[in-house]
Amino acid sequence: MSEIKHVAIIMDGNGRWAKQRFRPRIWGHVRGSAVVSSIVQSASDRGLKALTLYAFSTENWSRPVDEVSTLFKLLRKFLLKEKERILSNNIKFKVIGEIGNLPKETIKLINEVEESTKDATGLFLTFAFSYGSRAEIIKAVNTFIESNPNKEITEADIKKYFYRPEAGDVDLMIRTGGEQRISNFLLWQIAYAELYFTPTKWPEFTSNEFCKILDQVSMRERRFGNVSSQNDLMDSCEQADANKANFLKESITDV
Ligand code: FPP
Repeated sequence: MSEIKHVAIIMDGNGRWAKQRFRPRIWGHVRGSAVVSSIVQSASDRGLKALTLYAFSTENWSRPVDEVSTLFKLLRKFLLKEKERILSNNIKFKVIGEIGNLPKETIKLINEVEESTKDATGLFLTFAFSYGSRAEIIKAVNTFIESNPNKEITEADIKKYFYRPEAGDVDLMIRTGGEQRISNFLLWQIAYAELYFTPTKWPEFTSNEFCKILDQVSMRERRFGNVSSQNDLMDSCEQADANKANFLKESITDV
């Protein structure tokens, strides 16, 4: 049994869901934003540490203008409607991504909600908006090099410069809508994540399915590159150190 602390979701299938109902794609996004509210509530109720939702990728800028502007409007509407609930649930909110090109009033609202929830101690709720993981990694490396020109970068260094380091690694990534790919989302943070792909399109995704996925995935054994029997014997880092030391000793004796 493993504890799922950080869940990331690729909320896919809005457009196809709407099309199947002979409606415009943006109708799917409108219905999808109501689902966002209920999944955030479930994540908070379940005591998750972090929930990261992919709401708009850097690649989504190439979608039709009315679809892009609808997504901006939905983000704003969501924050206006939910900011009180976010506060009362002790949720710490943040948007990750390059949001400089969003409408000014939306940026202002994002800043306000981030500021008013900065001392919250509950769920880290993150919206990835105008987000791309490769860009996040490149930015982190460049920022590190600027302030440490002569130092070799380490894993710990790079993590510090991500948009939201405190959310930590992802334990479970869910993608709705039936496709099975990662789409440039949290590439570094999912290195050891469990992956779950559901055919359910986002507007039909429910808290019930969300909780079932969490229950099911927490039964999976996560080995992080180790083998299962070793998990009981020794902490994986201690085991790796012991193995390295033995290997070194043997190689020296061989010479
Ligand atoms: C992918 O579905 C989904 C998106 C690009 C946007 C996700 C946005 C929401 C769930 C609503 C926005 C809500 C807030 C609160 C910001 P798609 O349109 O690519 O679906 P398709 O694969 O069926 O075309």
